[in-house]
Amino acid sequence: MVNVAVLGYGTVGSGVVEVLEGNNELIAGRIGEDIHVKYILDLRDFPGDPFEDKIVHDVNVIMEDPEVSVVCEVMGGVGAAFEFTKRALGAGKSVCTSNKELVAKHGAELLALAKANGCNYLFEASVGGGIPVIRPFVRSLTAEKIVRIAGILNGTTNYILTKMDREGADLEPVLKKAQEKGYAERNPEADVEGHDACRKIAILSSLMTGHRVDSESISTKGITQITSEDFAFARAAGYTIRLLGVTKLLEDERLSVMVAPFFVPVDHPLASVIDVFNAIMITGNMVGDTMYYGRGAGKLPTASAVVSDVVDAVMSEGKSVPGGWDEETVEVVPVEETKSRFFVRVSADSVDAFRQVFEDVEEVDASVEGQVGFVTGKILTKDLEEKTAALGNSVLGVIRVF
Ligand code: HSE
Repeated sequence: MVNVAVLGYGTVGSGVVEVLEGNNELIAGRIGEDIHVKYILDLRDFPGDPFEDKIVHDVNVIMEDPEVSVVCEVMGGVGAAFEFTKRALGAGKSVCTSNKELVAKHGAELLALAKANGCNYLFEASVGGGIPVIRPFVRSLTAEKIVRIAGILNGTTNYILTKMDREGADLEPVLKKAQEKGYAERNPEADVEGHDACRKIAILSSLMTGHRVDSESISTKGITQITSEDFAFARAAGYTIRLLGVTKLLEDERLSVMVAPFFVPVDHPLASVIDVFNAIMITGNMVGDTMYYGRGAGKLPTASAVVSDVVDAVMSEGKSVPGGWDEETVEVVPVEETKSRFFVRVSADSVDAFRQVFEDVEEVDASVEGQVGFVTGKILTKDLEEKTAALGNSVLGVIRVF
């Protein structure tokens, strides 16, 4: 019998208990081990809850109980969650987490600590919610040099962009709906400003390189500037808009990483990913493109991924699960030095000035009153910024083209 403790009885924590207890027999049938929740740590009481008797308020009860071999950290944040994770790993208890902020910030240290103590730090749920993406990455693409990762990594913003595109909805009311559905972060700025996607692409990039990719070094732009006009131009030019995390190994072997809204061609597989779904396209030098798809947020999909790690921890007892990265920090190419095509939306009265500054452009006619759109050729971000700065207020919007 394996005893598990769950730290945090919020949306994901209650889901973890539900999956572990609800699918207990099925899991036992598969791996020959009976996995049970022994404790749930939370500051609150839950009178009437079916698992009320498992609630504890003192983390020492868990850390000092030798019967607990696996801990699920689903509290979030980098304060108490970091301390409790270190204590659990230090005591030889494997930790399974959905806490992308903690994995992105202190992953290297926690992975090393796990290794030193003969246990594992597992984080399948930290990227792509319920999508198996970490495990295929570290266990299946092992023969590959990964050259690109491109992903829709945030369910809340994908849900918002889908509703803006299909229903002409505004950001605020749709964000509220995403919060009600349990998709959004406690502070939804982390979703709409791209910080959540940034942590996830930092984790994937760290796995890709085997070294720490600092989320602070990743150029990050969210979706708050996207308007219905942008969607009108995107449609007219054969694109839709998606918030992507993109990591590329450049020809000179340097790494470019960014989070930004992109014009994605409508016939690209990432364009058909709608609502809360996420998708991650991973490209290897031998296999080419592979893609992983599923629900990127929500109680049970995320909990299912945490429980898949619990199962992995139990099956890998005494062995290190492959994958991870060390403390050496990768230098990310400054975004100004990266090249891209761009969509630029300008006021109709500035078209002549625009054409003088940008030579290699294609015009997009979306019949938006008083506005004209252009798609540039491939140019340096630095040049794009200089040119648009020269045009001042007549530039109404700029979006990268994938
Ligand atoms: N707020 C996140 C999202 C939750 O919307 O994708 C899953 O990490």
